[in-house]
Amino acid sequence: MKIVSVINYKGGVGKTTVTSNVAAQLAYIGYRVLVLDMDAQASLTFSLVTPDFWDNTLREDKTIKSWFDCISEGETTLPLSDLVYTPPKVNSKLPRGGNGCLDLISSHLGLINVDLELATLLGGANLKQSKVNYIKVHGKLKSALVELGERNNYDIVLIDCPPNFNIVTKNAIIASDQILIPAKPDYLSTLGIEYLQRSMNELISEFNEFGSLDDNFETVDPEVLGVVFTMIQIRNQEPIAAQKQYIAQTRRLDIPVFENNFRENKTIFAEAPQDCVPVVLNGYSNPTYSGIVDELEAFVTEFISRSGGLGE
Ligand SMILES: Nc1ncnc2c1ncn2[C@@H]1O[C@H](COP(=O)(O)OP(=O)(O)O)[C@@H](O)[C@H]1O
Ligand SMILES: [Mg+2]
Repeated sequence: MKIVSVINYKGGVGKTTVTSNVAAQLAYIGYRVLVLDMDAQASLTFSLVTPDFWDNTLREDKTIKSWFDCISEGETTLPLSDLVYTPPKVNSKLPRGGNGCLDLISSHLGLINVDLELATLLGGANLKQSKVNYIKVHGKLKSALVELGERNNYDIVLIDCPPNFNIVTKNAIIASDQILIPAKPDYLSTLGIEYLQRSMNELISEFNEFGSLDDNFETVDPEVLGVVFTMIQIRNQEPIAAQKQYIAQTRRLDIPVFENNFRENKTIFAEAPQDCVPVVLNGYSNPTYSGIVDELEAFVTEFISRSGGLGE
Protein backbone atom coordinates (compact mmCIF):
# COMPACT_ATOMS: atom_id res chain seq x y z
CA MET A 1 0.00 0.00 0.00
CA LYS A 2 1.50 3.27 -1.13
CA ILE A 3 0.83 6.50 0.79
CA VAL A 4 0.93 9.76 -1.13
CA SER A 5 0.32 13.21 0.38
CA VAL A 6 -0.92 16.05 -1.77
CA ILE A 7 0.59 19.20 -0.32
CA ASN A 8 1.10 22.89 -0.86
CA TYR A 9 1.27 25.69 1.71
CA LYS A 10 -1.03 27.70 -0.42
CA GLY A 11 -4.78 27.30 -0.58
CA GLY A 12 -6.68 27.41 -3.84
CA VAL A 13 -3.92 25.89 -5.97
CA GLY A 14 -5.88 22.78 -6.95
CA LYS A 15 -4.80 20.25 -4.29
CA THR A 16 -8.30 18.92 -3.77
CA THR A 17 -9.13 18.86 -7.48
CA VAL A 18 -5.93 16.94 -8.20
CA THR A 19 -6.59 14.51 -5.31
CA SER A 20 -10.17 13.73 -6.28
CA ASN A 21 -9.43 13.25 -9.97
CA VAL A 22 -6.32 11.12 -9.46
CA ALA A 23 -8.21 8.98 -6.93
CA ALA A 24 -11.22 8.56 -9.23
CA GLN A 25 -9.16 7.67 -12.28
CA LEU A 26 -7.01 5.18 -10.34
CA ALA A 27 -10.20 3.54 -9.03
CA TYR A 28 -11.62 3.49 -12.57
CA ILE A 29 -8.65 1.58 -13.94
CA GLY A 30 -8.92 -0.98 -11.17
CA TYR A 31 -6.91 0.22 -8.16
CA ARG A 32 -8.24 0.11 -4.62
CA VAL A 33 -8.02 3.69 -3.44
CA LEU A 34 -8.58 5.40 -0.09
CA VAL A 35 -8.68 9.18 0.14
CA LEU A 36 -8.07 10.81 3.48
CA ASP A 37 -9.30 14.39 3.81
CA MET A 38 -7.14 16.17 6.40
CA ASP A 39 -8.15 19.72 5.50
CA ALA A 40 -10.59 21.37 7.91
CA GLN A 41 -12.23 23.01 4.90
CA ALA A 42 -13.41 19.51 3.96
CA SER A 43 -13.54 20.31 0.22
CA LEU A 44 -12.56 16.78 -0.73
CA THR A 45 -15.24 15.34 1.56
CA PHE A 46 -17.88 17.60 -0.01
CA SER A 47 -16.68 16.67 -3.49
CA LEU A 48 -17.70 13.07 -2.76
CA VAL A 49 -20.66 13.31 -0.33
CA THR A 50 -23.32 15.96 0.16
CA PRO A 51 -23.16 18.28 3.19
CA ASP A 52 -26.54 16.93 4.36
CA PHE A 53 -25.37 13.36 4.28
CA TRP A 54 -22.14 14.27 6.05
CA ASP A 55 -24.07 16.12 8.73
CA ASN A 56 -26.51 13.27 9.36
CA THR A 57 -24.26 10.26 8.98
CA LEU A 58 -20.54 11.02 9.16
CA ARG A 59 -20.10 14.10 11.31
CA GLU A 60 -20.57 12.50 14.72
CA ASP A 61 -18.11 9.63 14.67
CA LYS A 62 -16.89 8.90 11.13
CA THR A 63 -14.37 11.63 10.43
CA ILE A 64 -10.62 11.95 10.96
CA LYS A 65 -11.41 14.40 13.76
CA SER A 66 -12.73 11.52 15.93
CA TRP A 67 -9.36 9.86 15.52
CA PHE A 68 -7.37 12.99 16.43
CA ASP A 69 -9.70 13.60 19.38
CA CYS A 70 -8.71 10.21 20.85
CA ILE A 71 -5.09 11.37 20.79
CA SER A 72 -5.71 14.72 22.42
CA GLU A 73 -7.88 13.07 25.08
CA GLY A 74 -5.18 10.50 25.81
CA GLU A 75 -7.37 7.57 24.68
CA THR A 76 -6.43 4.66 22.46
CA THR A 77 -7.08 5.67 18.87
CA LEU A 78 -9.84 4.03 16.85
CA PRO A 79 -8.64 1.92 13.93
CA LEU A 80 -8.76 4.13 10.81
CA SER A 81 -10.78 1.41 9.08
CA ASP A 82 -13.71 2.27 11.42
CA LEU A 83 -13.84 5.70 9.78
CA VAL A 84 -14.01 4.57 6.16
CA TYR A 85 -17.10 5.35 4.11
CA THR A 86 -17.68 4.25 0.51
CA PRO A 87 -19.41 7.08 -1.37
CA PRO A 88 -21.98 5.34 -3.60
CA LYS A 89 -22.30 7.85 -6.42
CA VAL A 90 -18.68 7.94 -7.52
CA ASN A 91 -18.37 4.17 -7.03
CA SER A 92 -21.40 3.62 -9.29
CA LYS A 93 -19.33 5.19 -12.11
CA LEU A 94 -16.59 2.54 -11.85
CA PRO A 95 -16.61 -0.40 -14.27
CA ARG A 96 -18.94 -3.14 -13.07
CA GLY A 97 -17.23 -6.27 -11.80
CA GLY A 98 -13.84 -4.50 -11.69
CA ASN A 99 -11.46 -4.48 -8.75
CA GLY A 100 -11.35 -0.73 -8.30
CA CYS A 101 -12.92 1.16 -5.41
CA LEU A 102 -12.82 4.66 -4.00
CA ASP A 103 -13.23 4.97 -0.22
CA LEU A 104 -13.19 8.10 1.89
CA ILE A 105 -12.18 9.09 5.39
CA SER A 106 -13.89 12.42 5.67
CA SER A 107 -12.79 15.62 7.31
CA HIS A 108 -14.53 17.84 9.83
CA LEU A 109 -14.68 21.62 10.09
CA GLY A 110 -13.60 21.24 13.74
CA LEU A 111 -10.24 19.87 12.61
CA ILE A 112 -9.04 23.47 12.73
CA ASN A 113 -8.73 23.18 16.54
CA VAL A 114 -7.00 19.82 16.58
CA ASP A 115 -3.60 21.34 16.02
CA LEU A 116 -3.73 23.42 19.18
CA GLU A 117 -4.77 20.38 21.18
CA LEU A 118 -1.96 18.25 19.76
CA ALA A 119 0.56 20.99 20.46
CA THR A 120 -0.17 20.66 24.19
CA LEU A 121 1.17 17.08 24.02
CA LEU A 122 4.57 18.29 22.86
CA GLY A 123 7.29 19.29 25.30
CA GLY A 124 8.27 17.32 28.39
CA ALA A 125 10.16 17.37 31.67
CA ASN A 126 13.52 17.13 29.91
CA LEU A 127 14.99 17.15 26.42
CA LYS A 128 14.81 13.39 26.03
CA GLN A 129 11.14 13.30 27.02
CA SER A 130 10.39 16.18 24.60
CA LYS A 131 12.00 14.24 21.78
CA VAL A 132 10.02 11.11 22.65
CA ASN A 133 6.79 13.15 22.70
CA TYR A 134 7.70 14.78 19.39
CA ILE A 135 8.02 11.36 17.75
CA LYS A 136 4.78 10.15 19.34
CA VAL A 137 2.72 13.14 18.23
CA HIS A 138 4.13 13.37 14.70
CA GLY A 139 4.28 9.64 14.02
CA LYS A 140 0.68 8.76 14.97
CA LEU A 141 -0.79 8.75 11.50
CA LYS A 142 2.06 6.66 10.17
CA SER A 143 1.43 3.91 12.75
CA ALA A 144 -2.32 4.04 12.12
CA LEU A 145 -1.84 3.69 8.36
CA VAL A 146 0.52 0.75 8.82
CA GLU A 147 -2.25 -0.93 10.84
CA LEU A 148 -4.83 -0.02 8.18
CA GLY A 149 -2.59 -1.54 5.51
CA GLU A 150 -2.57 -4.82 7.45
CA ARG A 151 -6.39 -4.95 7.62
CA ASN A 152 -7.48 -3.52 4.26
CA ASN A 153 -5.95 -4.22 0.89
CA TYR A 154 -5.76 -0.71 -0.55
CA ASP A 155 -3.25 -0.10 -3.31
CA ILE A 156 -2.91 3.57 -2.46
CA VAL A 157 -3.91 6.13 0.14
CA LEU A 158 -4.06 9.73 -1.07
CA ILE A 159 -4.00 12.37 1.67
CA ASP A 160 -5.42 15.80 0.87
CA CYS A 161 -3.51 18.14 3.19
CA PRO A 162 -4.46 21.54 4.62
CA PRO A 163 -2.73 24.66 3.27
CA ASN A 164 -0.31 25.04 6.19
CA PHE A 165 2.55 23.22 7.89
CA ASN A 166 0.87 22.35 11.19
CA ILE A 167 1.05 19.10 13.16
CA VAL A 168 -1.72 17.56 11.03
CA THR A 169 0.26 18.22 7.82
CA LYS A 170 3.47 17.02 9.46
CA ASN A 171 1.75 13.75 10.38
CA ALA A 172 0.81 13.31 6.73
CA ILE A 173 4.37 13.97 5.52
CA ILE A 174 5.88 11.55 8.04
CA ALA A 175 3.35 8.88 7.03
CA SER A 176 4.01 9.28 3.30
CA ASP A 177 6.06 7.31 0.84
CA GLN A 178 5.69 10.07 -1.70
CA ILE A 179 4.62 13.70 -1.96
CA LEU A 180 2.73 15.32 -4.82
CA ILE A 181 2.83 19.13 -5.05
CA PRO A 182 0.09 20.85 -7.06
CA ALA A 183 1.00 24.45 -7.90
CA LYS A 184 -0.16 27.34 -10.04
CA PRO A 185 2.50 28.67 -12.41
CA ASP A 186 2.84 32.14 -10.90
CA TYR A 187 5.46 34.06 -8.93
CA LEU A 188 4.38 33.32 -5.36
CA SER A 189 3.64 29.66 -6.01
CA THR A 190 7.05 29.13 -7.54
CA LEU A 191 8.69 30.69 -4.47
CA GLY A 192 6.49 28.54 -2.25
CA ILE A 193 7.70 25.28 -3.80
CA GLU A 194 11.30 25.79 -2.69
CA TYR A 195 10.19 26.85 0.76
CA LEU A 196 7.96 23.80 1.09
CA GLN A 197 10.76 21.49 0.04
CA ARG A 198 13.09 23.02 2.60
CA SER A 199 10.52 22.74 5.41
CA MET A 200 9.86 19.10 4.53
CA ASN A 201 13.56 18.28 4.58
CA GLU A 202 13.94 19.93 7.99
CA LEU A 203 10.98 18.03 9.39
CA ILE A 204 12.24 14.70 8.08
CA SER A 205 15.76 15.12 9.43
CA GLU A 206 14.48 16.28 12.82
CA PHE A 207 12.07 13.34 13.03
CA ASN A 208 14.80 10.85 12.12
CA GLU A 209 17.29 12.43 14.51
CA PHE A 210 14.89 12.36 17.48
CA GLY A 211 13.68 8.89 16.54
CA SER A 212 17.19 7.46 16.61
CA LEU A 213 16.95 7.54 20.44
CA ASP A 214 14.71 4.49 20.13
CA ASP A 215 16.24 1.19 18.99
CA ASN A 216 13.03 0.10 17.22
CA PHE A 217 12.67 3.32 15.23
CA GLU A 218 12.39 3.07 11.47
CA THR A 219 13.78 6.00 9.51
CA VAL A 220 11.30 7.84 7.28
CA ASP A 221 12.22 9.02 3.82
CA PRO A 222 9.30 10.42 1.82
CA GLU A 223 10.22 11.23 -1.75
CA VAL A 224 8.94 14.20 -3.75
CA LEU A 225 7.13 12.69 -6.71
CA GLY A 226 6.95 16.06 -8.38
CA VAL A 227 5.17 19.32 -9.00
CA VAL A 228 2.00 19.21 -11.07
CA PHE A 229 0.93 22.52 -12.55
CA THR A 230 -2.75 23.36 -12.35
CA MET A 231 -5.05 25.98 -13.85
CA ILE A 232 -2.99 26.22 -17.01
CA GLN A 233 -4.30 28.74 -19.51
CA ILE A 234 -3.86 27.40 -23.01
CA ARG A 235 -3.52 29.58 -26.13
CA ASN A 236 -2.54 28.03 -29.46
CA GLN A 237 -2.12 24.63 -27.83
CA GLU A 238 0.36 25.78 -25.22
CA PRO A 239 0.43 27.56 -21.86
CA ILE A 240 0.33 31.36 -22.10
CA ALA A 241 3.76 33.05 -22.01
CA ALA A 242 3.52 34.26 -18.39
CA GLN A 243 2.82 30.74 -17.15
CA LYS A 244 5.42 29.14 -19.40
CA GLN A 245 8.05 31.30 -17.76
CA TYR A 246 7.21 29.99 -14.27
CA ILE A 247 7.01 26.42 -15.47
CA ALA A 248 10.48 26.77 -17.00
CA GLN A 249 11.79 28.37 -13.81
CA THR A 250 10.47 25.48 -11.71
CA ARG A 251 12.07 22.96 -14.06
CA ARG A 252 15.42 24.53 -13.20
CA LEU A 253 14.90 23.81 -9.48
CA ASP A 254 16.12 20.59 -7.96
CA ILE A 255 12.65 19.04 -8.01
CA PRO A 256 10.83 16.81 -10.52
CA VAL A 257 8.07 18.44 -12.58
CA PHE A 258 5.28 16.48 -14.29
CA GLU A 259 5.03 16.71 -18.07
CA ASN A 260 1.23 16.63 -17.92
CA ASN A 261 -0.75 19.33 -16.18
CA PHE A 262 -4.29 20.46 -15.37
CA ARG A 263 -5.76 22.99 -17.76
CA GLU A 264 -7.92 25.81 -16.44
CA ASN A 265 -11.64 25.45 -16.99
CA LYS A 266 -13.75 27.16 -14.37
CA THR A 267 -17.08 25.78 -15.52
CA ILE A 268 -16.06 22.15 -15.68
CA PHE A 269 -13.92 22.02 -12.51
CA ALA A 270 -16.16 24.19 -10.36
CA GLU A 271 -19.33 22.23 -11.05
CA ALA A 272 -18.07 18.68 -10.48
CA PRO A 273 -17.90 18.73 -6.64
CA GLN A 274 -21.60 19.55 -6.33
CA ASP A 275 -22.35 16.44 -8.34
CA CYS A 276 -20.14 14.26 -6.06
CA VAL A 277 -18.33 12.82 -9.09
CA PRO A 278 -14.85 14.07 -10.12
CA VAL A 279 -14.49 15.51 -13.65
CA VAL A 280 -12.53 12.54 -14.95
CA LEU A 281 -15.46 10.13 -14.40
CA ASN A 282 -18.26 12.30 -15.71
CA GLY A 283 -19.81 11.46 -19.05
CA TYR A 284 -18.50 14.07 -21.45
CA SER A 285 -20.79 15.83 -23.78
CA ASN A 286 -18.49 18.03 -25.87
CA PRO A 287 -14.94 18.23 -27.27
CA THR A 288 -13.71 20.63 -24.57
CA TYR A 289 -14.84 18.23 -21.86
CA SER A 290 -13.39 15.17 -23.54
CA GLY A 291 -10.09 17.01 -24.12
CA ILE A 292 -9.85 17.71 -20.38
CA VAL A 293 -10.66 14.11 -19.51
CA ASP A 294 -7.92 12.90 -21.90
CA GLU A 295 -5.44 15.21 -20.17
CA LEU A 296 -6.45 13.97 -16.71
CA GLU A 297 -6.01 10.38 -17.87
CA ALA A 298 -2.57 11.21 -19.27
CA PHE A 299 -1.58 12.80 -15.99
CA VAL A 300 -2.63 9.71 -14.03
CA THR A 301 -0.64 7.46 -16.38
CA GLU A 302 2.41 9.63 -15.71
CA PHE A 303 1.63 9.60 -11.97
CA ILE A 304 1.63 5.78 -11.90
CA SER A 305 4.86 5.58 -13.81
CA ARG A 306 6.66 8.20 -11.69
CA SER A 307 5.42 6.57 -8.50
CA GLY A 308 7.11 3.36 -9.59
CA GLY A 309 3.82 1.46 -9.93
CA LEU A 310 1.04 0.78 -7.45
CA GLY A 311 -0.28 -2.28 -5.71
CA GLU A 312 2.91 -4.28 -5.88
N1 LIG B 1 -8.01 23.28 -13.45
C1 LIG B 1 -8.87 24.14 -12.91
N2 LIG B 1 -9.52 25.05 -13.65
C2 LIG B 1 -10.37 25.93 -13.11
N3 LIG B 1 -10.69 25.97 -11.82
C3 LIG B 1 -10.09 25.08 -11.00
C4 LIG B 1 -9.15 24.12 -11.49
N4 LIG B 1 -8.71 23.38 -10.45
C5 LIG B 1 -9.35 23.85 -9.37
N5 LIG B 1 -10.17 24.87 -9.69
C6 LIG B 1 -11.03 25.65 -8.79
O1 LIG B 1 -10.21 26.44 -7.95
C7 LIG B 1 -10.67 26.41 -6.62
C8 LIG B 1 -9.59 25.84 -5.71
O2 LIG B 1 -9.33 24.50 -6.10
P1 LIG B 1 -9.04 23.37 -5.01
O3 LIG B 1 -8.79 22.11 -5.75
O4 LIG B 1 -10.12 23.34 -3.99
O5 LIG B 1 -7.69 23.92 -4.39
P2 LIG B 1 -7.00 23.66 -2.96
O6 LIG B 1 -7.40 22.30 -2.51
O7 LIG B 1 -5.54 23.78 -3.23
O8 LIG B 1 -7.50 24.73 -2.06
C9 LIG B 1 -11.95 25.61 -6.63
O9 LIG B 1 -13.03 26.47 -6.74
C10 LIG B 1 -11.84 24.75 -7.87
O10 LIG B 1 -13.09 24.44 -8.43
MG1 LIG C 1 -8.31 21.71 -0.75
